Amino acid sequence: MPIDAPALAFTQAERDAVYRAIFERRDMRHFAGGSVAPEVMRRLLTAAHHAPSVGFMQPWRFVRVASSALRTQLQALVEQERVQTARALGQREDEFMRLKVEGLQDAAEVWAVALADGREKHIFGRRTLPQMDLASASCAIQNLWLAARAEGLGMGWVSLFDPVAVAALLQLPAGADPIALLCIGPVHGFYEEPMLQQERWAKRCPLDELLFEDAWGQPLKSLLDQATAAKEHTI
Ligand SMILES: Cc1cc2nc3c(=O)[nH]c(=O)nc-3n(C[C@H](O)[C@H](O)[C@H](O)COP(=O)(O)O)c2cc1C
Repeated sequence: MPIDAPALAFTQAERDAVYRAIFERRDMRHFAGGSVAPEVMRRLLTAAHHAPSVGFMQPWRFVRVASSALRTQLQALVEQERVQTARALGQREDEFMRLKVEGLQDAAEVWAVALADGREKHIFGRRTLPQMDLASASCAIQNLWLAARAEGLGMGWVSLFDPVAVAALLQLPAGADPIALLCIGPVHGFYEEPMLQQERWAKRCPLDELLFEDAWGQPLKSLLDQATAAKEHTI
């Protein structure tokens, strides 16, 4: 029996809300302090936990950084890595050092996300692509990011750190790997475009340059006419 896809679609208002969360989500590095109500934080984590995962392995683990001393130690590790990254960038070192790359001290909440230990026993979907565990945990983080935006909260994903040092600080078991320090909380406003674009570090690539047909590099023949393409979101 044919399935009527439009009948299963969300209403226009619901679709608008989903796309709004997607387009207005920003990686935030400026926070307004304050707090996140426990029930809101629980909703965000529940959204994360409903992400897809390869073989349904659910590799994500979340560690709340409650201690301010621990937060300071984590920030020191990020600062160390920021300097190392700047050096590795060569010509763009000074430009990079001017960028704000984390908001660890001002965010209401800091949560570390780690890949669970014992991931080697999950073979389904990972035999040839073991990194699908990281892909799955990234889906969870994206869910949390979008839910936070819908709740009016900012979130920043900080990955500038030595994972061995962060694992030691958080007492992760052998085989578990930290992948993110999430800064979450109230913000004064959301950047209108990615901060790295505002700062002229990088800009969003035109979508059409990333779409191919049948073989890499072969342009997609027709998906959108020019008029529709012109209306596409470009920020
Ligand atoms: C896996 C991952 C790691 C990231 N790590 C950092 C980071 O350490 N510091 C930072 O300032 N931004 C980090 N970002 C945020 C990106 O810079 C940001 O997503 C990008 O500039 C696009 O901006 P937008 O998220 O506001 O659209 C990270 C993003 C991802 C997906």
